[in-house]
Order: sequence, then structure tokens, then C-alpha cells
Amino acid sequence: MPYELGPTLLSAERIAARVAELGAAITADYRGKTLFLVCVLKGSTIFWADLCRRIELPTVTDFCAVHCYGDGTDPSGALLLSHDLSLPIAGQEVLIVEDIVDTGRTLHLLRSHLLTRHPASLRICALLDKVERREVPVPLDYVGFAIPNEFVVGYGLDFAQQYRNLPYVATLKAT
Ligand code: PRP
Repeated sequence: MPYELGPTLLSAERIAARVAELGAAITADYRGKTLFLVCVLKGSTIFWADLCRRIELPTVTDFCAVHCYGDGTDPSGALLLSHDLSLPIAGQEVLIVEDIVDTGRTLHLLRSHLLTRHPASLRICALLDKVERREVPVPLDYVGFAIPNEFVVGYGLDFAQQYRNLPYVATLKAT
């Protein structure tokens, strides 16, 4: 089925303003500490790149790629860590940076997995929270925007690996 871009949901200006607020909040919360940022590939790359430049703290960044599979209703389903972190996180103040939380399964599994590595703390910062779609509760410490249950692309989010480079978030609609 062919698709085309629908209305803009979040403009580049609105995103930038919110990212600055998130960066300021994170800076205040972790003052005096070094923050270990986990960028979850691929969708989070744009958000991470902007957010980390709004965090006025010493930071370390590492990347991982994850996919969850199994029954969509099974919160204990399996996590495929297709690209693991290259650094240990034991004793680190870890902040997972995600672009979007949908069912919550990916973050639930990733969070549980990373906790086994004994970080000093583990929090989550998500740009978009599609609240209506949640199947598995997951604690979100920082959220950019709660959004309606619509398919969205841009600012890192894709449809078939396209649209990630849009500087704004838009809906995608069938034509
Ligand atoms: C997206 C997003 C989250 C996940 C959220 O990743 O980046 O990781 O889906 O969905 P959930 O809450 O239902 O688990 P995706 O699998 O599309 O990969 P990508 O980041 O490479 O685009």
C-alpha cells in the first residue's frame, strides 16, 4: 500500500525547545556525575545527537541495537541484542536514550537486561511516548512528548528505513 507524509505532528522548533528542556533537567539531576548515555540504534540517533549537546555534564556514549520477538503480549519475551554495548556499565550512571516507546516491550527487555550488569543507576529518556499502545509498563524518567496512536516518521523514526532524516515528526498516511 502506498504511503505519503501526512501533517506535521512536531515541528523542528518545538522538538528543539523540548530537547533543550530535557537536557537542562538531566544536567540538573546528574550534577557532579559522569553520565553514560546508551543510544539505541537506529531510531534514537538524531534525538541522541541533539540531546547530548544539551547536557552540560561529562558524558560517555555507547550504542546498542535491539529487537524483541515472541508473543506481543508476553512481557518476558526474548531480546535480541544485535549490537551490544562495547563498554561495561557496572557502577555507571546509565541513561537509555530512545526515540519512541510503543508497546514498551523493547525497553522493558533492554532495561531488565542492562540491570543484570549492575549499573549504579539506570534511567530512561524517551522523546515520544505512544501511551495508548503500552502493553508492558516501563518506567520513563524523561519524556519529550506524549503522542496519539498514529504512525509517525522523521527525526530518526523510519518507515521501511526512510524518512529518518526529516527534521520534524510527521504522520504517515495511506494514499
Ligand atoms: C522502535 C523504537 C524502539 C521500539 C519501540 O525501534 O526505536 O526501540 O521500536 O517499540 P516497542 O515499545 O513496541 O517495543 P525499531 O524496532 O523500529 O528499530 P529502529 O530504531 O532501528 O527503527
